[in-house]
Amino acid sequence: MGSADIYREIILDYYRNPRNFGKIDSPDISIRDSNPLCGDEIEIHVKFDGDKVKDVKFTGKGCAISQASASMLTEMIMGKNLEDVKKVGKEEILESLGLPNLGPARIKCALLSLKTLKLGVYSYLVEKMSSADAEKLKEEASKLF
Ligand code: FES
Repeated sequence: MGSADIYREIILDYYRNPRNFGKIDSPDISIRDSNPLCGDEIEIHVKFDGDKVKDVKFTGKGCAISQASASMLTEMIMGKNLEDVKKVGKEEILESLGLPNLGPARIKCALLSLKTLKLGVYSYLVEKMSSADAEKLKEEASKLF
């Protein structure tokens, strides 16, 4: 079996037996996105313990590459801190899939979950930042009179 066949087998295995498939009760991040070209979807839920990923799950529907890469991504970020999650790049996903030279259409399949996750992480950070700022403002306001 050549290495391309081995990777194809790995992708199909993740597609048929997705790791971390499902939802999380009261997640800190819950985000859904789709590939506009085909309508395939990924939804990602993340729960933090401090700034570490305590649990991550995904659901979705779509091609083998999009679903397998989502499953691989959940394994990649489990237990990582937020800063490291932010650093996960497309090269790591393509490497895990064994598909470093994908064409433009298929690369959208491979990176749908990463794009979705990043959207969720940045929205979460913005939300956290504004609530912290709001607390500071409240504290300031309480000292005014
Ligand atoms: Fe839709 Fe791959 S064909 S994400």
